[in-house]
Amino acid sequence: MFTTPLTRMAQIIAFFVLVCFSYLATSLATTPPPAIPLGNYSYVCDPARFTELGMDMSKFAWCNKDLPYDVRAKDLVDSMTLAEKALQLGDKAPGVPRIGLPMYYWWSEALHGVSDVGHATKFNDVVANVTSFPTVILTTASFNQSLWKNIGQVVSTEARAMRNAASAGLTYWSPNINVVRDPRWGRITETPGEDPFVVGTYASQYVRGLQDVEGTENATDLNSRPLKVAACCKHYAAYDVDAWLGVDRYHFDAIVTEQDMEETFLRPFEMCVKDGDVASVMCSYNRVNGIPTCADLNLLNRTIRGDWNLHGYIVSDCDSIEVMVHGHKWLGDTPEEASARTLRAGLDMDCGTFYPDFLNNAVALGKARESDLDKSLNYLYIVLMRLGYFDGSPQYSSLGKADICTDENMELAAEAAREGIVLLKNEDNNLPLDPKKQYNLAVVGPHANATLAMVGNYAGIPCRYVIPKDGLAKYANVTYAQGCENVLCENGSYIEEAKQAATNADVTVLFVGLDLTVEAESLDRTDLYLPGSQTDLINQVTDASKGPVILVILSAGGVDVSFAQENEKIKSIIWAGFPGQEGGSAIADVIFGKYNPGGRLPITWFKSDYVLQLPMTSMPLRPNETLGYPGRTYKFFSGTPLYPFGYGLSYTTFNYKVTSPSSSINIQLGKTQQCHNIIYKVNGTSPACAGVQVADSSCTEEIQVDVQVQNVGNKDGDNVVMVYSSAPSGVAGAPIKQVIGFERVFVRAGETQTVTFKFNACKSFSLIDQKGYKVLPFGEHTVIVGDESTSLPITFGFQK
Ligand SMILES: *[C@@H]1O[C@H](CO)[C@@H](O)[C@H](O)[C@H]1NC(C)=O
Ligand SMILES: *[C@@H]1O[C@H](CO)[C@@H](O)[C@H](O)[C@H]1NC(C)=O
Ligand SMILES: *[C@@H]1O[C@H](CO)[C@@H](O)[C@H](O)[C@H]1NC(C)=O
Ligand SMILES: *[C@@H]1O[C@H](CO)[C@@H](O)[C@H](O)[C@H]1NC(C)=O
Ligand SMILES: *[C@@H]1O[C@H](CO)[C@@H](O)[C@H](O)[C@H]1NC(C)=O
Ligand SMILES: *[C@@H]1O[C@H](CO)[C@@H](O)[C@H](O)[C@H]1NC(C)=O
Ligand SMILES: *[C@@H]1O[C@H](CO)[C@@H](O)[C@H](O)[C@H]1NC(C)=O
Ligand SMILES: *[C@@H]1O[C@H](CO)[C@@H](O)[C@H](O)[C@H]1NC(C)=O
Ligand SMILES: *[C@@H]1O[C@H](CO)[C@@H](O)[C@H](O)[C@H]1NC(C)=O
Ligand SMILES: *[C@@H]1O[C@H](CO)[C@@H](O)[C@H](O)[C@H]1NC(C)=O
Repeated sequence: MFTTPLTRMAQIIAFFVLVCFSYLATSLATTPPPAIPLGNYSYVCDPARFTELGMDMSKFAWCNKDLPYDVRAKDLVDSMTLAEKALQLGDKAPGVPRIGLPMYYWWSEALHGVSDVGHATKFNDVVANVTSFPTVILTTASFNQSLWKNIGQVVSTEARAMRNAASAGLTYWSPNINVVRDPRWGRITETPGEDPFVVGTYASQYVRGLQDVEGTENATDLNSRPLKVAACCKHYAAYDVDAWLGVDRYHFDAIVTEQDMEETFLRPFEMCVKDGDVASVMCSYNRVNGIPTCADLNLLNRTIRGDWNLHGYIVSDCDSIEVMVHGHKWLGDTPEEASARTLRAGLDMDCGTFYPDFLNNAVALGKARESDLDKSLNYLYIVLMRLGYFDGSPQYSSLGKADICTDENMELAAEAAREGIVLLKNEDNNLPLDPKKQYNLAVVGPHANATLAMVGNYAGIPCRYVIPKDGLAKYANVTYAQGCENVLCENGSYIEEAKQAATNADVTVLFVGLDLTVEAESLDRTDLYLPGSQTDLINQVTDASKGPVILVILSAGGVDVSFAQENEKIKSIIWAGFPGQEGGSAIADVIFGKYNPGGRLPITWFKSDYVLQLPMTSMPLRPNETLGYPGRTYKFFSGTPLYPFGYGLSYTTFNYKVTSPSSSINIQLGKTQQCHNIIYKVNGTSPACAGVQVADSSCTEEIQVDVQVQNVGNKDGDNVVMVYSSAPSGVAGAPIKQVIGFERVFVRAGETQTVTFKFNACKSFSLIDQKGYKVLPFGEHTVIVGDESTSLPITFGFQK
């Protein structure tokens, strides 16, 4: 719609103006002075640093600690020329040598440990490696919120220690909190799974772990709340197609309904900003309903800043603006127009070079306003001030190499793996093996000797690797055979040796699965099978084995192992995600019963035919009968999966008893409050007063649910109490059920623990209707604890 001849002509003129302008600019400009690094100083406003530079720090109000951050940030920004401002808006900010502002590289990563992905954080002789935790999908499977936060705290401690000892940034573009909408997605490993509430809870816990400075968590002025490191929730929004059958993220337009947007794609981000108080959000490469997310005023400025009140900055995914111009060819924009448009929409920082290269001209051409650059720069410098970048962080200055890869940190990585591991099958109580017996184990398969595969992507260099076969060797006599040359397993000639090993062993442990050559960023799967000859390997080795077979799967996404579930000789199946540097010991501790597994699947494991029924690019979560598409995730898929969301066995047995002090609650309606229409399936109409819109309700009513968890087996163990709600029957388009709370508890054999949940009526029992409104339907809802067999009705009525 912007390609009329007139605008085309205007573009051509603009192009010439621009060429002349940049020619003039380059010919007149003198070479900029070299950027100054912070060097050996630990913060910017160190008087000695300015003395060394031959400057008087007291002349710079932005270094005056007595002034509030916003005043200092404004002073700093006001002291820059337009050209200097534009340069600071790329991730490799060169600083302003003229006034002693050093360069700062914004891009660091800490998804599951400090990483050297990005430009700011590098390992060297001083700090050669850091603790590498399991990838997020496995840590999520623990469903232990304090563990999630704890890991964030350890990662940020190592980040601070590394910054003091070597080179590391303060701004970390983690975590990745996109919901797993489709089992083929290549980046499942980085994410907390398919449930938006679980994903949002993980996000806020991990972000608080990374960011919060002890003792200042409840600061009232959130614009000056100190930060340990700054986190970033990404990729906003509806980003979950990487590269699938010729469709890629640089061109993909996600067609999303208002309902799915509110209910699924935005919710984790809202929780990350509001509950986690994250310092940054990153917009994604894709378009949503035609508009590139980084150029969407409604998604960025109106939602993140206006509705959620972000205290921090919005950053682009790397080279997103370039992708808008060259990939999406959005509105035929020139680089100047695209940069101006994203700045206007609320994008503060470009991970890339479009802002530094083109914003200066964009202002000169009248396309962008200098005041918009100022606003973004203010957000950025306030974050750096909160990080102590200007004034120092005395509370972290003693951290150093001795605080990295400590025994405690590595033990936490092992603990995360143990807590996440999911027991999928265990016939005849095959597991645990008895550590007192002298087993001869055949340890077979492409992951039996895994190292790099265990730490996945966005990893740093780990302190060490505990390889799976070495973990088992601590308990038993191990005969190793690789079975396949790698996970692609294209060469069947290794199978024979693996069969030989199994023929003589008391027990065979098969390590199979996926790695980054199969599921990764820019690499979605096209099927749910194990790759190459892995299935052959499993079947042949199982046939040949003398003893029972234990199948251990290392993967992020689910794989269709129905054949193994049905094979009677395969007594046990374990999913170990990508278990991090300590993976081998965690798996062995589970197999030999030193640890009783309690992890639960954070995604549905579908059977392979699921992906034949709908394209990855179809965004709706709800089923579409006309097209024959099944629903997505446990909330909308009514078929039979291989293993459902929340599935996981234990070496002991738990029973639940669920009670609530009040099974019926009346919501107090305001004097002028209207009932909200809710569409029912049968008659297309609703009861006279079907429900209320949550935005109109103060809604302080709480429902208490007490769950008695009885361990009726003979082993101590952890139980994840998963609580769902489901709407009154007949409400059109309602999820089958949705998670409203969860807690992991340890219960000794023969004992009982009571877990008390308090649910706000509107937060936990509301639905998003077709128009995107959050509504609470009146009538009988159901609270479900664990599987469907334990449930409790809760009825909502109203009173005026
Ligand atoms: C930084 O400190 C190291 C070690 O004390 C020293 O060798 C180096 O010259 C210093 N670098 C600068 C730029 O002052
Ligand atoms: C949850 O994680 C914490 C570690 O952060 C651990 O101390 C606690 O035991 C875990 N809870 C359960 C029930 O496993
Ligand atoms: C912050 O508030 C929480 C929740 O009220 C409380 O548990 C915590 O102790 C408070 N922290 C500080 C440092 O006051
Ligand atoms: C961005 O949001 C702020 C705060 O909600 C608002 O004042 C401002 O007008 C918005 N900017 C644009 C360009 O809409
Ligand atoms: C196991 O992996 C390690 C590290 O990659 C390698 O050095 C070693 O040769 C492998 N061992 C066997 C028996 O293949
Ligand atoms: C980690 O660094 C230490 C030295 O600090 C070194 O001994 C060790 O081999 C390194 N580990 C890996 C896996 O590179
Ligand atoms: C360990 O296994 C090897 C190979 O199967 C066997 O030769 C050896 O006797 C076993 N050792 C013990 C102590 O069982
Ligand atoms: C399979 O692996 C064997 C052993 O490494 C090798 O000799 C053979 O050439 C490989 N075959 C193919 C088709 O790659
Ligand atoms: C099913 O898909 C068709 C074609 O995209 C669409 O017109 C229709 O509205 C969809 N139905 C539902 C219930 O979403
Ligand atoms: C649908 O309409 C029938 C007849 O009017 C009524 O008996 C029934 O209760 C209605 N069902 C729902 C779910 O509203």
